[in-house]
Amino acid sequence: MTSPRKILVTSALPYANGSIHLGHLVEYLQTDIWVRFQKMCGHNCTYLCADDAHGTPIMLRAQQEGISPETLIGRIRAEHEADFADFQIEFDNYHSTHSEENQFLANHIYTQLRDAGHISRRTIKQAYDEEAGMFLPDRFVKGDCPKCGASDQYGDSCEACGATYSPAELKNAVSAISGSAPVERESEHYFFKLADFEPMLKQWTQGEHMQPEIANKLQEWFEAGLQEWDISRDAPYWGFEIPDASGKYFYVWLDAPIGYIASCKHHCDKNGLDYQDFWKPDSDVELYHFIGKDIAYFHTLFWPAMLEGAGFRKPDAVFCHGFLTVDGKKMSKSRGTFIKARTYLDHLNPEYLRYYFAAKLSSGIDDIDLNLEDFAQRVNSDLVGKLVNIASRCAGFIKKRHQNQLCELIDNPELLADFIAAAPKLAQQYEAREFGKTMRDIMALADRANQYIDEKKPWIMAKDDTLGQKVHDVCSMGINLFRILIGYLKPVLPVLAQKAELFLNIEPLSWEQLSTPLIDHKINKFKPLMTRIDLEKIEAMMQQTQGELEQEHALKLSNSPKKTTTALDKEPLAAEISFDDFAKLDLRIARIDKAKHVKGADKLLQLTLNLDGATKNVFAGIKSAYQPEELEGRLTVMVANLAPRKMRFGLSEGMVLAAGPGGDELFILQPDSGAKPGMKVK
Ligand code: MSP
Ligand code: ZN
Repeated sequence: MTSPRKILVTSALPYANGSIHLGHLVEYLQTDIWVRFQKMCGHNCTYLCADDAHGTPIMLRAQQEGISPETLIGRIRAEHEADFADFQIEFDNYHSTHSEENQFLANHIYTQLRDAGHISRRTIKQAYDEEAGMFLPDRFVKGDCPKCGASDQYGDSCEACGATYSPAELKNAVSAISGSAPVERESEHYFFKLADFEPMLKQWTQGEHMQPEIANKLQEWFEAGLQEWDISRDAPYWGFEIPDASGKYFYVWLDAPIGYIASCKHHCDKNGLDYQDFWKPDSDVELYHFIGKDIAYFHTLFWPAMLEGAGFRKPDAVFCHGFLTVDGKKMSKSRGTFIKARTYLDHLNPEYLRYYFAAKLSSGIDDIDLNLEDFAQRVNSDLVGKLVNIASRCAGFIKKRHQNQLCELIDNPELLADFIAAAPKLAQQYEAREFGKTMRDIMALADRANQYIDEKKPWIMAKDDTLGQKVHDVCSMGINLFRILIGYLKPVLPVLAQKAELFLNIEPLSWEQLSTPLIDHKINKFKPLMTRIDLEKIEAMMQQTQGELEQEHALKLSNSPKKTTTALDKEPLAAEISFDDFAKLDLRIARIDKAKHVKGADKLLQLTLNLDGATKNVFAGIKSAYQPEELEGRLTVMVANLAPRKMRFGLSEGMVLAAGPGGDELFILQPDSGAKPGMKVK
C-alpha cells in the first residue's frame, strides 16, 4: 500500500445568523462524503469548519432579539453543530471565527500584510444612517432601481433587471434599519492592495487549482483590473478591532477565511500538533476548500493573495459547487421551498438526502435540483428496492437453514471479480467528486446482484431438499455482493453501513478490505436496514416549512422599521409652473345644488354646481368619501374653465377640488364663511 496522504479539508463557514438549510447541505454533504472516502482509504484526512460569527447582520439580529451578539452566536453555533451531527457530517473540529485563535491570526496576517506594504488607507464616502448612528452596508440601503425603477431593491444590485450600482444611485433610498433616508458621510478605510499580487494570481488561477469554469470567470476580473479591497468597517461593528486603528474593525470577510487556520490551530493545540505544519509554504499537507460558486472570488483571489502576502501556503484546490434549486427554481421563502435542515430531520432519514445529493452531484458548478417526487422515487427504488433488498432476500435462508453461517465457497467467482474490479474506477470517481457517476455505477452493480439472485431463484430451490447446498451458495454469494456494495456506498451512507457491518458481523469496512470476501463466516440476525420514504412525511415537512416561514414573516413585519414617509414622499411636488400658467386656471366658488349617485358608476357622484349665473354638470370621483345628501347645499371650489369632457355617463363640465390620497381619505375644499357662489378664486 502506498503511504497515506495528509489532507486538510474545509467547507465554507456558515453565517451564525441563521439556520442551516438544505442548500447549505449540498456543500457539507459533498465535503463530508469526500472526506469519508479519503478516510476509508486510510488517508490522514482532517475536516475542519467553524461558524462565521461576525458582521452587521449578526449584530443587528442580536439587537432585534435584545441579546448580546455573543449569546446569539453561541445559540446558533449549538444549533448548527446539532444539525450537522444529525446529518452525519463529521468534522474533526468545529470552531468559531469569534475566537482567540482567530483574533490572533487575523492580527498576525494583517500586520504581516501591512508591514510588507500591502495595506493602504483612504477616505471614502458611504451611506450613513443618522437615526441608527451607523454606516450602512450596501445590502441595508433599499430603494428604487436607477435603471428600471423597480421598487424595494438593494443598494448594490437590482433583482428585477440585474443592474449593479452604488447605494447613492438608488432612487428614494431608505435605510433598512431605521427607515430614514441615508446621508453620505466620509470615513477613512483600510484597503488590501490586491493588485500587488496580480502576477502570482494570474499564474495560480490558471494552474488547475479550480474548475475551468471558475478560472475563466476570473479572467473577467483580471481584465477589469484588480481593485483594492476594502477590509475595514467603522464602529459600531461586530468583529475584531484593527490593532493599529481604534474604532475600525476588520470586515467580516477578512477574518472569515482566516477562520480555517484558526479552526486548524484550535484542533492542533488540542491534539499536540503544530498548525504551522499545515500552513507553512512548504507544507506536505494537501489543502482543499469546498465552497459554493457564490463565494469563489473570495477564495480564489483575495484568499490566496492574503496567504501569500502573509507568508502562508496556498490551497491546492478550491472546489466549487452549484446551488440547490427546488423543483427547478431558486429556494425561496415566498414559494415555501426554503427547507431547514432541522425541519427535514423532524420528518425524514438524513441518509435519504445524503444519497440523493450524491446521486446528483458532479465535479462541475451546475445547480442541482431537488424534486421531491424524484427524491422519493429515487431513494425508494435504489436504496430500498435494489440495495437493501439483496440482503433481505438472502439473509432468511442463511439463518433458517445454516445458523447464519456463510458457505465455504464463492458460487460465481467471475461476478465477484467484476464487483471487486470496479473499485479503482469508483475510487477515482470519488476522488474527482463525480459522485453522480459513482452512484450510477454502484446501482448498476446492484442490478447485477439482483439479476443473479433472480436467475438462481433460491426461494424455488429451497422447496427441493436436494438443492439445500445450492441455496446456501447462492445466498452467501448474495451477501458477499451486498457487502461490497455497502462498502462502496459507505462514504455516502455511514449509518446504513454501520448497521450492515453489525449484521455482517465485521469490523468497520475499509476500501482495501472490500476485495476479500467473507467465507465460512458467521453473520448476525438480519434487521430491516432502511424503510421506504413515505410521501406523507414529505408532505408534513413541506407544511411545517410553510408554517415556519409564515411565522418568520409575521415576526419580520413586527420588527421592521416604521417608515416615516411624509406626504411629500408619497406625492412629490410637481414641476414648477409660471404665473401665467396659473392665471389660465379659472377657479370659482360653486354651490352644490344637487348630488346624486350615477347608475353603473362605482366611483362617481353627479353634481349640479351653481356659479350664480351658470350651472355646471360635473361627474366627481368622490363617491367613496361622501354621501350625496351631505354635499347638497355646501360650497366648494371648482375649475370652471376646464374643457368639457365626454364621459360614459354624460358630459362633465369642470372639476371640483378635493385633497387626499383617495378612497375614504378624500376631502373637498370648502371656502371660509362669507364666500359666495360664482366668486373667482385668486
Ligand atoms: N460565511 C460565508 C462563508 C465564509 S467562508 C470563509 C458564507 N456563509 S453562508 O452561510 O452564506 O454559506 C455557506 C456555504 O453554503 C457557502 O459555500 C454557500 O455557497 C453555500 N450555500 C448557501 N446556500 C446554498 C444553496 N442554496 N445551494 C448550495 N450551496 C449554498 O457564505
Ligand atoms: Zn432594475
